[in-house]
Order: sequence, then structure tokens, then C-alpha cells
Amino acid sequence: MKLAEIVPWGRSGEEYRRMFNLTDADLGKRILGVGDGPASFNAEQITAGGSVVSIDPIYAFSAQEIEKRVEATYYTVIENVQKEEAQYNWTIFQNTDELGKERMKAMNQFLTDYETGKQQGRYLAYALPNLPFPDQSFELALCSHLLFLYSDHLSEAFHQTAIQELMRVANEVRIFPLISLAGSPSPHLSPVLAACEANYIQAEIVNVPYHFQKGAYQMLQLSRTA
Ligand SMILES: C[S@@+](CC[C@H](N)C(=O)[O-])C[C@H]1O[C@@H](n2cnc3c(N)ncnc32)[C@H](O)[C@@H]1O
Repeated sequence: MKLAEIVPWGRSGEEYRRMFNLTDADLGKRILGVGDGPASFNAEQITAGGSVVSIDPIYAFSAQEIEKRVEATYYTVIENVQKEEAQYNWTIFQNTDELGKERMKAMNQFLTDYETGKQQGRYLAYALPNLPFPDQSFELALCSHLLFLYSDHLSEAFHQTAIQELMRVANEVRIFPLISLAGSPSPHLSPVLAACEANYIQAEIVNVPYHFQKGAYQMLQLSRTA
């Protein structure tokens, strides 16, 4: 992966709690954060006494390299959101200024924690669809703004393999959102649900108390039935 090709953008722990309907009991679990990028969930959870391992190919880069990339792309991302303001509900954030401020706060929290977290093995440069963890290493895997959202970039076969792999390494998997970047339902959702049924994986679509991008208010919750 070339860092120049990616747009690092990270959400806060509060956004994770709402996107994944996380209870205090959930937050006490051994959690795998999948494609966490520069989100502050891991840093915040560790401070609160939780256990999170994050994986993302950007963790092959140094804090300075990621910080430079955040700075280089920040205004482009904000400008794009401004151009498409009507695609978002401005209830969580009042406007793009507040969105930018909150996202930078989260990314700075990540950057402050990053080198220590890397030494502690909490930020690992692994990528879906194959993860080098033993079976059921985690109680809960959370994947935000990667699977289903990038349906035009990641094939159905990629989704199927990635989801089977997540169910191998974790007892339960939650994925948010279920729409693509264009705002339409992901075409990969139905085939993924069919494969889950065939593989004895219980799949539930759950409404969550987070609705920023219009249409993005549901997560997929997966657990084993046998
Ligand atoms: C839009 S960001 C979301 C970051 C974070 N989950 C959040 O919601 O704030 C998507 C992230 O997925 C990562 N990513 C891309 N391909 C990946 C893969 N194959 N496996 C794991 N992460 C990947 C990117 O590097 C990026 O950090």
C-alpha cells in the first residue's frame, strides 16, 4: 500500500460506541479493531482500562508519515463534505467546522498514542482478508467504514473471505455501515447474508443510534449458531 494513495480519516471512541451499539459489557471484551486507521477508539479504550488490538495497513508507516498525510488531505476531505452537505445529517456535528475539529481531536489522540501502542502490539500492520491470529483470539471484532462502504473497490469475493476470516478470529463481528460511498445499499450484503446462513453464522441487521451519512444507521452483527 502506498501512503500517498490513502486518505487517513479517524473517528472518536464516542462515535464507535454509537456506530456499534457498544454497552459497558462490550467495552470490557477483548476487541479487534479492523481498519481502525487514525481513529482514537484504541487510545481511548486503553486509557479506560480496555483491551483493543487494531489492524490496518497504514500502521506500516511512522507517526510522522501518517501525520503528514492527515495534514495533506484534511482540507480536501472537508471541502468534499462541504460540497455534499445535503448527504449528511447535521445533528451529531453542527457544521463542517465542528466535524473537522472533532475528527482532528480524534486523530491527534491516535497520533499521541501510536508509537507506544505499536511497541505494545496494539497497532499491527495487517490487512483483510487474511489475518495471522489464532482461531477465536478476540471476543468482538469491529469494522467501521471499510467493508460494504467500499463496495465499488472491494469485490464480493473479498467481502466473503474477509467476513469468514473475521468470524474465525473473533466470536462476534459488527460491521458499520451497510451502504456504499454513493449512499446506496451495498450489493454485497445479500450474498454475504446467504453465505452466513449456509455457514451457521447468525446475522442480524441492527439499527444504531448513529446517523451522520444519510442512510448509514445500521450495522451487521454476526455470531455463531453452531
Ligand atoms: C475510512 S477509514 C476508517 C477508519 C476508522 N475505522 C474509522 O471509522 O474512523 C478506512 C480504513 O481502512 C483501512 N484499510 C484499507 N484496506 C484495508 C484492508 N484490506 N484491511 C484492513 N484495513 C484496511 C485504511 O487504511 C483506512 O485506515
